[in-house]
Amino acid sequence: MANGSQLLIENDGVVATFTLNRPDKLNALNDQVMADLGDAADRITTEDAIHGVILTGAGPKAFVAGADIADLAKQGPFDGKARALRGQGVLRRLETCGKPVIAAVNGFALGGGCELAMACHIRIASDNAKFGQPEVKLGIAPGYGGTQRLPRLVGKGRALQLILTGEMIDAAEAYRIGLVNKVVPAAELMAESEKLLRGILAMGPLAVRLSLEAVERGLDMSMEEGLLLEANHFGLLAATADMKEGLTAFLEKRAPKFAGR
Ligand code: COA
Repeated sequence: MANGSQLLIENDGVVATFTLNRPDKLNALNDQVMADLGDAADRITTEDAIHGVILTGAGPKAFVAGADIADLAKQGPFDGKARALRGQGVLRRLETCGKPVIAAVNGFALGGGCELAMACHIRIASDNAKFGQPEVKLGIAPGYGGTQRLPRLVGKGRALQLILTGEMIDAAEAYRIGLVNKVVPAAELMAESEKLLRGILAMGPLAVRLSLEAVERGLDMSMEEGLLLEANHFGLLAATADMKEGLTAFLEKRAPKFAGR
């Protein structure tokens, strides 16, 4: 199924693949694509036929080469701020959609592209992928969460180096600093991403959902609050058929069969 031409959505009833589809502009994020992404994030949250998502870019060159610079060139201070808040909101909806989202990074992931990949839960990169926050070269700064998510992922020093110099790093370096989870040959990117996602989807669905929530929300809490959230989830899971099935299957030395999977 497809909703418009700039964000393609395929769904096999379990795994949905979202493909940003402006290859002639290296899949740059214009306002329409951002609005479509926001709608897509809401669909992930609400549609039972989507258990997990792979997000990638069309064409051989780019995941996403950033926010659309032609749009940015027209903005003044107020609509600039509004664009940043809108974009941040879209990425946060994706990050907190409750289901695993894997970025399959198939080329340039620059500026808003790097920020979009960081809002996904796991990043798999093809060996030709390139990452960076080049905004300072344009006289702007990251606006879709880069100044907040990059230091959380790679540490303050490395984040500031990338943000202040605008330098581009290759997939191997992105892996070395913890920006991506795995690097694979370009031809294997989608298969590897799907394998990882289907492995996650074979786990207890409620356990996966609450683990995502504890990590995403807990990072913004104090340790005490985060630990309480974790304990609440742990107790809540004890009331579920998922836990009963998971533990029983272990004791009976068989594979678990979780409801709805
Ligand atoms: N916004 C709008 N258009 C973009 C874009 C962006 N962020 N990134 C690339 N494009 C467009 C180019 O303008 C070009 O369009 P054209 O064919 O109509 O001229 C097309 O995509 C192909 O890009 P091109 O620059 O010719 O490819 P390249 O292989 O020579 O260089 C990059 C690739 C990624 C190094 C280069 O496109 C680039 O630096 N892009 C901007 C990255 C950036 O600063 N992102 C942060 C934005 S906040």
